[in-house]
Amino acid sequence: MRTQVAIIGAGPAGLLLGQLLTRAGIDNIIIEQRSPEYVLGRIRAGILESVTVDALERAGVAGRLHAEGLVHHGIALSYGGQRHHIDLHALIGRSVTVYGQTEVTRDLMDARRADDTPTVYEAQEVSVHGFDGSTPSVRYRKDGAMHEVACDYIAGCDGFHGICRESVPAAARQVFERVYPFGWLGLLSETPPVADELVYASHERGFALCSMRSRHRSRYYVQVAASERVEDWSDERFWQELRSRLDPQTASALVTGPSIEKSIAPLRSFVSEPMRFGRLFLAGDAAHIVPPTGAKGLNLAASDVLALSEGFEARYRRADASGLDGYSARCLQRVWKAERFSWWMTSLLHRFPDADAFSLRMQRAELDYVVGSEAASRVLAENYVGLPY
Ligand code: APR
Ligand code: PHB
Repeated sequence: MRTQVAIIGAGPAGLLLGQLLTRAGIDNIIIEQRSPEYVLGRIRAGILESVTVDALERAGVAGRLHAEGLVHHGIALSYGGQRHHIDLHALIGRSVTVYGQTEVTRDLMDARRADDTPTVYEAQEVSVHGFDGSTPSVRYRKDGAMHEVACDYIAGCDGFHGICRESVPAAARQVFERVYPFGWLGLLSETPPVADELVYASHERGFALCSMRSRHRSRYYVQVAASERVEDWSDERFWQELRSRLDPQTASALVTGPSIEKSIAPLRSFVSEPMRFGRLFLAGDAAHIVPPTGAKGLNLAASDVLALSEGFEARYRRADASGLDGYSARCLQRVWKAERFSWWMTSLLHRFPDADAFSLRMQRAELDYVVGSEAASRVLAENYVGLPY
């Protein structure tokens, strides 16, 4: 088989890239190691920047997002027993949309199926070849037989644990990484959200976040030690811990219920440079990871594939390779700013095991500054709604 762009991975990055390419008349195939049900079963964040909403519109998959997504004009910071409102829209003139990553993925999968664009799910032993020359290819095993796809380019959208980044010789790339000494325990429940906006809470027991998927479905997180096991957290223990970290106004409005899903995610900052090696392009989590505090993971994946699809369009329509040549540098500009913001939000709001009395006072002074100064609030708002593409 032959195609123009072979995409590895059917997460949001791979599916969105596929849809943008199909719309631009560029042949593509997606090769994914898991089943569609498995991909849809992963619960991830759900805050979309306007750049991401624009990309989904361009891909022709924003119908349900506009009907069901919740537009949020602000967020709240809770600490010292009080809740402080950050009015994103008043400060920076833009807002964010709350729409689960699972729903984004489902909409993209539905569109791909409707277009009849080829997708191979449950592909085993996926490997990429020849991207340092002019005839790249992808091989995989499916139903006991080996298959080979010859292509012009390979898009590595196979997430942090994928094989594309690792297929590049270690000497050709540089890795920057920070692993945080804690994780997030998340719980999804069919209960009304505690507030109209997301509440980011900093408390001496640790960070907590009150988020939502809809007006009836809530997503909550508490910071836990990296060594914690989800089996040790009953729903009751979770709710008690969450409530203890919220200001009284928020805590008293909390509606609890049985969990639908509960899991622990580690927190990591990670960038692998560059994002292009010959005819292999990395996008999304395959190239970079942010801690979830700034809600940037999905949004960075979307801006990467927007730049990549523009590069492919220029290459195929006008034989102009400048977009592909500049892809890595263009993405990394935005990636590093989002890395900085996610690291800053994480440092501002979490309890670090080694924090001394001075660092705790610094953290408190910074929170007071962020909520008390319009200039500081605006810096938060500008980054939270997403820097310009
Ligand atoms: N071969 C084929 N597919 C693979 C392979 C492989 N060897 N390894 C991984 N994959 C698939 C995974 O099963 C997954 O479906 O690649 C996909 C990668 O998807 P994501 O991990 O969701 O990464 P990405 O599409 O970049 O999305 C970024 O998702 O993880 C969140 O926080 C992240 O919100 C961000 C967004
Ligand atoms: C979520 O809803 O899962 C979520 C929201 C905001 C974040 C992180 C996660 O910063």
